[in-house]
Amino acid sequence: MSLKKEILSHLIRSGDYISGQKLAAVTGKTRAAVWKAVKALENDGYIIDAVTGKGYRLIKTGGRISAEEISAYLKSPVRVIYYPVIDSTNNACKRILADSKNDIILIAADEQTAGRGRQGKSFYSPAKTGVYFSLVIRPETTLKNAVTATTAAAVAVCRAIERLTDKKPQIKWVNDVYLDEKKICGILTEAVTNFETGIVDSVIVGIGINISTENFPSDVESAGCLDADINKNELIALACDELISISAGDYSSFIDYYRTHSMVIGRHIKFIRNNLSTSATAIAIDERGGLEVELENGERITLCSGDISIKKQ
Ligand code: BTN
Repeated sequence: MSLKKEILSHLIRSGDYISGQKLAAVTGKTRAAVWKAVKALENDGYIIDAVTGKGYRLIKTGGRISAEEISAYLKSPVRVIYYPVIDSTNNACKRILADSKNDIILIAADEQTAGRGRQGKSFYSPAKTGVYFSLVIRPETTLKNAVTATTAAAVAVCRAIERLTDKKPQIKWVNDVYLDEKKICGILTEAVTNFETGIVDSVIVGIGINISTENFPSDVESAGCLDADINKNELIALACDELISISAGDYSSFIDYYRTHSMVIGRHIKFIRNNLSTSATAIAIDERGGLEVELENGERITLCSGDISIKKQ
């Protein structure tokens, strides 16, 4: 790692002033070399306060997505890869899965040329306006829990947004994140299963968040953006740390959060059942993230997967 990247990592992790002497000691370089690296970071757009007797403190980062900066914000041990442009971060994960060991992999991009959504749809992923990333986790479990990872990802994104902004995101079942009735984040989860054992080897959770995206293609309905001045690297790292900690623990522990952030309960919805458009009222979210609904004839059923649309009030 270059000295510049090393210094950046120490400044992010500390969040406070670090003396030039300490930075020189931890990096094994001279104070003059540290000063030079700080100047180089400033040239890259980082704003660093330098106070005699106290040292250096990072005030604002450069604004660009980078693997080093994501790594500096991450608490979990993750192998981070960044591409300025890629077809799809989920595709990129699939391509490297065969060569990777059991590590947790995060692939992030500034732009996707073939971003994929659920049900074969595309996901609008223009440059500089959003974050597109995929996390490969190894749940060492059955497909059931892997499916729950889908729900957990929506919770992870909402928690990260709430930690960085004063916005109040909501979840549209199953895992779209909305703000003010507009979709600002889509999640595509793909499980890679071992055919012989039936065990899920890895789960690829692909997350796209519109930060300042505008002018969506005409076929994209009710889309919006976060519209907040946030550090994209920190947002990616926070969401991934949340998801890793949920998937390492008890999946049921996040379901209460999911319920309180659901935007569908009590609302009239539509979904496709037996090839027919079906109307219902959303009643509750069960322990597994299933949606309990009441049909127009009073019958109650639980939806386990699929897409719903919310009828306008
Ligand atoms: C949806 O809303 O239908 C799901 C959209 C998922 C988009 C993300 S962006 C990162 C990752 N790479 C992809 O190609 N898709 C997911």
